[in-house]
Parts: sequence; C-alpha cells; structure tokens
Amino acid sequence: MLRVKILPDDKTIEVLDGETVFDACCRAGIMIQSACGGVGTCTKCVVRIKEGATAPSPHGVRNLSSTEIEQGYRLSCQLKVRNDLVVEIPPGSRFYGEQILTVGGAAAPETALDPSVRQYYCQLPQPEIHDQASDFDRLARALGAHAPDLVAGLDPLRELADALREKDFRVTATVSGRRLIRAEPGNTRGTAFGVAYDIGTTTVVGYLIDLTTGKELALASRSNPQAAFGHDVLARGDYADKGPQERRELQDLIVGCMQEIAAECCEKARTPIDHVYEVVFGGNTIMTHLVFALNPRHITVSPFTPIWSRAYKVPAHEIGLKLAPGATVYALPSVGGYVGGDITAGMLACDLDRREDLTLFVDVGTNGEILLGNRSRLISCAAPAGPAFEGAKISCGLRAMSGAIDKVSFSESEQDLDLHVIGHHPPRGVCGTGLIDAVATFLKTGMVDPGGRVLEPDEAREKLPEKLAGRVLPSENGSDLLLVPKAKTLERRRDLTLTQRDIRELQLAKGAIRAGVDMALKVWGVDGSQVSNVLIAGGFGNYINPAAAMAIGLFPPDITVDKLEFVGNSAAVGAKLCLVNRGQRARVERLAREVEYIELSGRKDFADVFMTAMLFPGYEGL
Ligand code: FES
Repeated sequence: MLRVKILPDDKTIEVLDGETVFDACCRAGIMIQSACGGVGTCTKCVVRIKEGATAPSPHGVRNLSSTEIEQGYRLSCQLKVRNDLVVEIPPGSRFYGEQILTVGGAAAPETALDPSVRQYYCQLPQPEIHDQASDFDRLARALGAHAPDLVAGLDPLRELADALREKDFRVTATVSGRRLIRAEPGNTRGTAFGVAYDIGTTTVVGYLIDLTTGKELALASRSNPQAAFGHDVLARGDYADKGPQERRELQDLIVGCMQEIAAECCEKARTPIDHVYEVVFGGNTIMTHLVFALNPRHITVSPFTPIWSRAYKVPAHEIGLKLAPGATVYALPSVGGYVGGDITAGMLACDLDRREDLTLFVDVGTNGEILLGNRSRLISCAAPAGPAFEGAKISCGLRAMSGAIDKVSFSESEQDLDLHVIGHHPPRGVCGTGLIDAVATFLKTGMVDPGGRVLEPDEAREKLPEKLAGRVLPSENGSDLLLVPKAKTLERRRDLTLTQRDIRELQLAKGAIRAGVDMALKVWGVDGSQVSNVLIAGGFGNYINPAAAMAIGLFPPDITVDKLEFVGNSAAVGAKLCLVNRGQRARVERLAREVEYIELSGRKDFADVFMTAMLFPGYEGL
C-alpha cells in the first residue's frame, strides 16, 4: 500500500499502486470536481503535488500551462500513484457540495394518511389446553379485518413467541400490506417511520416521515457521491456497463448515501433507525437502475430501452440498506428511458392529471424533461440539454456552489455589469443560472447579437458604453467577454471570461429545452398562448431568473413571464405522497402507463425545430 497525504485536510489515505489520486480521494470521501467523468479533458480536477512529484505523463498535464506543470499541478484523474505523495487540493478543484433544493415551491396536495406500513396494538387471549392455536394464528385472529390473509417471514416468526410472552400477550404488530414484519412486546404504536428520497444525478435529499401521523420530522441531503464517476448519467452508464463489480461500486455509493441521510434524519428527530420500515424514492431512470445495480447501458443508446420501468419494491436489505427488519424500498415508475420516477413524482406533486387547464411542466437540467397536458391527456418528451446548465463544458463553469457567479445584470448607474457570487468566497467561475443571466444581459446590452455572435472589440468600442466595451477582449476564436479580471484560480490569477464557444454551448442547451417545448406544443396542436401555466421544477430550475429565461428564449414568446411558476423539488413531494398513501402509488403507476412519450430523435421535424430553437429572440436571419 502507498500513502497519499491530502492537504489542507492533513489526512493520509492508503492507496493501491496505480490508483488515481482522484479515485482514492473519492473513496476517502474527499470530493474533487469533475465535469468529464475522469477522462482528462475538463481540467476541473487539478491538484498540486507538494512532495513526491515525478515526471508527468502527457495526459496528466493536458491543458495546463508550463508554469503550472513546473509548480506541480496535475490532473488528479490522470495522476496514478506510484510512490508516496503529499498532494494539495486547491479550493477551485474541491467539490464543496452545491445549493441543494430541499423544499417544494408549490404546496403539496393534501392526501389522506394511508401508508402501507401500519402498527396494531393487540391484547391476545392466552393459550390454554382448550385453545392451542399457534401464536401466529392467535395474532392473525386478533388483527382480523385489519390484516386479512396475514403472512409472515421467518424473522418475525422467530421473535413472536418471546414478544407475546414478555408482556402477557400484549403485543404491537407492525404489518406491511398483509405481511407481518415485526412483533414487539407491549404497546409500541407510533414508532413506524419512513424516508422519502429524491435521488438526483447531482444531489440526494431525504425526508423522514412519521407513518403514524404523516408528519415530516427531519430532512437531510448530500451531493450524489457517484459524481466521482462523471457528472452526467451517461458517463455513469458507461462506467456501469464495464461489469457487475462496477455496477456494485456505483450501487454501494448511492445506497451508502441513502443510509447516511436516513441516519442523519433519525439522529435529528431522535428516532431509532431500526424503526424505519419503508423507503420510497423517485429518480431518473438511469439513477433508478443504478440503485438496483441494473445495467443502464441500453438506455444510453438508441432505441433507449430500460430494463425495467414499472414501480419496483424489494426488501431494503437486498440493496444493502440497514433499516428496520422487514423494511422495503419502493421505486416510483418511469415513463421511459428519459422520463423517470422523478418526473412521475412531479406529476403527482403538481396534480397534472387533475388539472382542467393546459399546463406545461419543465424540469430543467442536463436532460430537460417536458410534460404537457391536463386531465384528459398528458404527453412527455426529454430534451438532451447537456451539462452547460451545470457549468460543465463552460470554460469558467462551476456548479452552483460557493464562489460561483449566479446572477448577472446591467447596472444603469454604473453602465457596467453587476455580478453576484454565492457564499463568501471570491468569484471562481460561473454556474448555470449565472450563465443564463449573463447571456440575457449580453443580449440586452448588445455585447452578443441575436444570432449568438460576440461583438468584435472594435465594434464594441463603437457601440457600447466604455466599461462594457472594455469587457470585450480579443481572442483566437472570436472575442471573449470578461466577467472578473484577474480572479484567483490556481496559483496564478486568471481572467474569468465567457468565450464565443461558451455562448454556443448555452445556445445548444437552451435550444434543446426550447425545441422539446415547441415539439410538445406542436404534437398537442396548440401554441404557447393556450398554455395556462408553466411549472418549472428541479434544483436548477428553481434558481432561474424568469426574465432572463424569457430573454434568452427558453420558452416561446407567447408564453408570458407571469405564467412561469417555480414548483421546487416536486420529485420529493411526489415521493412523500407515495410514502404516506398507497392510493397515490396506484395513481402514479397508472399515470406512468398512460402518459404518451414522444421520442424527439425519432421525429423528422425535430432537427429544424432545434435549429430555430437555438437562436435568441430577435434573430431575423432565417
Ligand atoms: Fe480530471 Fe476532468 S480532467 S475530471
């Protein structure tokens, strides 16, 4: 075993010969940024070798300057450990976690309390010579209509005799459906809990719910630790496709994260984790496959078929969750490979199937999921927006974390850009909402034209106020737009700029979502003016500035800004509904079967719609 000391953590980890620093850190819970899934192209994972440096491999220093290489900077995903090292992780490379949306913007619909796990306190007649019924039959008789056709696994049967006799045949039976899962002496009613999860590609949020009252007791969240294997689901799908061991590795990470969240919630609420009887989760289809260690390979290639898309329920211990004996895991159903359980959960949370008015639901993320409909019909599609909204593929892109520029506007008094940065760090990059704001501001001020072209510096000096013109810098590939001069990133100071390529990346991302919306409207046979509400869901969507979204043309112009409504973490709200009410599960399972799915890549008209959708409002060239 080799040893790598991590600074400034001052933590030493044992590493296998040939393991990368990136993998070793992830294994040790030290999260490093990555936007390329560790293939060595994004440079987000840079670390500095303080002791033990050897000659770098060409891949290990790709896109680093000679000064940085001399100072010991390396790409941690390419840095294989061959001897003991001391390595420093610069603040810009560290993944601190991001803004995690833990609330629903829209009120959750009321639902009656009808969980599948229930507890019954019974006083049983004691056996005697004329009543030799078995302990189990005695209990089943007492439960009667509450649990008809009661069955039991071996574990509760093994504890039943002692449980009955410890408190003179006074016992609390915990039943899931018609299955006895626990027998405890005396009256322990009110000790059944469940956890509802929103399992996102980047973040995981869990809510502890009292199954006796339906009350939410605590919540906890984590960044999805699978990010070590790529920020997007496709990269993780590739890793999972390598073999069962890799799938198990990804499963262990996500299940470990769920376990930690459950433990933190229970600690906060002072409830024992061995009384968590049920877990419900909504996740995109690939994440759901990874929770069960199923290979999502065929979702990632045409014709994009999942192994399983129905609701799925298994004993919690089968995936490695350590909760109450007999605890189960229920996964919400998917509509298809790219409209998953998070979206069917959102449908429930927003009552899409019960609305009279035509409603558009959009979850803006790496993959934009779109639903359009009302109580008579619902259609769905998924638009591959790519990772630009998460800061990946953007030259100074960051996820929404401390140090990320998240708001950009034009200050009339200063005649210059006004920037807002998350947290108390100096600016280190720009996140997705900042990117949308920045481009909206560039369009408003004329720094970028409606075709997406950045002005030349000469043009800028002619057309723009002096301070703005000073932000248009010459570069090899068109002009760059300066956000922050001389920001401290690695050892040296670098200008934080958005390049012409970055603007094109944003056009691709917003074009995909807009094209999905346009296609849904087209299939339905309506225009935007006939849509009554636009519900924007998801962790990223919730932070978008609506005016900026309209300014870049994320939605058709006949959808007015007052129709936009942010519904927050609707996936979590839907999962909670399914945890506390069995009828909601039946409803979501029916919805998943009934929603029509449009495969955009299979439509001949999609390419044209997408081309137009990429342009900014006001473009007159087509
Ligand atoms: Fe290392 Fe992208 S270059 S994670």
